[in-house]
Amino acid sequence: MPLLDGLKVVASKIHGYGVVTTREFKKGEVICYGDGVLYTEDADFDDTYALVFPGEDSGLGEQYFWDLVCQTRWFNHSCDPNSEVQNRWDHKNQTCIAWWVALRDIPVGEEITYDYGFVGEVAEPCACGAKSCRGLIIDPDPAEVAKLPDHLRRLLRSAA
Ligand SMILES: C[S@@+](CC[C@H](N)C(=O)[O-])C[C@H]1O[C@@H](n2cnc3c(N)ncnc32)[C@H](O)[C@@H]1O
Ligand SMILES: [Zn+2]
Repeated sequence: MPLLDGLKVVASKIHGYGVVTTREFKKGEVICYGDGVLYTEDADFDDTYALVFPGEDSGLGEQYFWDLVCQTRWFNHSCDPNSEVQNRWDHKNQTCIAWWVALRDIPVGEEITYDYGFVGEVAEPCACGAKSCRGLIIDPDPAEVAKLPDHLRRLLRSAA
């Protein structure tokens, strides 16, 4: 797979590996398209690096995971992200298409982040460092916050 233009995998200040820009991206610009492998929800695989694709979106009635296999695999989460992931189901080829769009101008050397919006069951402590950090990687919807176990709920900050 060719390297994605303008992106480089590095040791991240947020967590593990992350991806920084090697050129500027303008607000609204498509940063990149991802590549991935589809798994059904009953498959046995490591979903750490996967986007979740609800059954309603695919029209197949079953939830899919799209395991990222390119540099997008190392995009970290931020509660104040500089990009957002968008996706659609490709009915002709029966697969997912996902791309990341810049939410603001992004200078050279800045880490690309997006809001993972995890459901309560898979929430994790967040180290994004943003002023508006929720303390957890979680969808701030009260219904998701309500699912948190006590030891994680204690880490929540008021933004959520
Ligand atoms: C798709 S991976 C991102 C790449 C990861 N940094 C690595 O080196 O494998 C997603 C995982 O990275 C970690 N991660 C991503 N963003 C984070 C953040 N803001 N704070 C803490 N951990 C984060 C979490 O463990 C999450 O499940
Ligand atoms: Zn955060």
